[in-house]
Amino acid sequence: MKRAVYPGSFDPVTYGHLDIIRRAADIFDELIVSVLNNKAKTPLFSVEERVKILEEATKDLPNVKIDSFSGLLIDYAHEKDLHVAVRGLRAITDFEYELQIAQTNRKFSKEELDTVFLTTSLEYAYLSSSTVKEIASFGGDISQCVPEFVAEMIYKKYGIAK
Ligand code: PNS
Repeated sequence: MKRAVYPGSFDPVTYGHLDIIRRAADIFDELIVSVLNNKAKTPLFSVEERVKILEEATKDLPNVKIDSFSGLLIDYAHEKDLHVAVRGLRAITDFEYELQIAQTNRKFSKEELDTVFLTTSLEYAYLSSSTVKEIASFGGDISQCVPEFVAEMIYKKYGIAK
């Protein structure tokens, strides 16, 4: 059985992430989408909230499981016996950052963990969780960026009535 992990912050999940999740779920028998519990960042949504959001947004995909992790991805992957990480690439700037992380992960996992990149569909190439949050914080329209229930949760966090 081919299994893979799609790690990320997902704060919050966007249509760009969901596009990668759907396509990776077609390639692998099981995809574990795992939310990083990053103590160095102050997220908009708690890990528990992000896990719940992802569960709801992927409920039609039976081979997608949602999880969370702290610490190094290579340690988590080793513990869960996962050998492939999936990441989405939007632009050259992503590539430089992702290449370094992928090579570090491969080297430090003693070649146990490889990374597979999917290029983000063009219609989502501009999307990032940070811009979605910034637009929403000013009351802007984010309906093209995230599912409706996620948009409602984001506006609520910013105390914006919609
Ligand atoms: O959605 P993001 O924030 O771009 O995801 C980044 C993520 C979670 C994939 C990456 O930061 C990560 O794997 N962090 C865990 C710590 C780690 O293993 N770092 C890599 C060594 S350089």
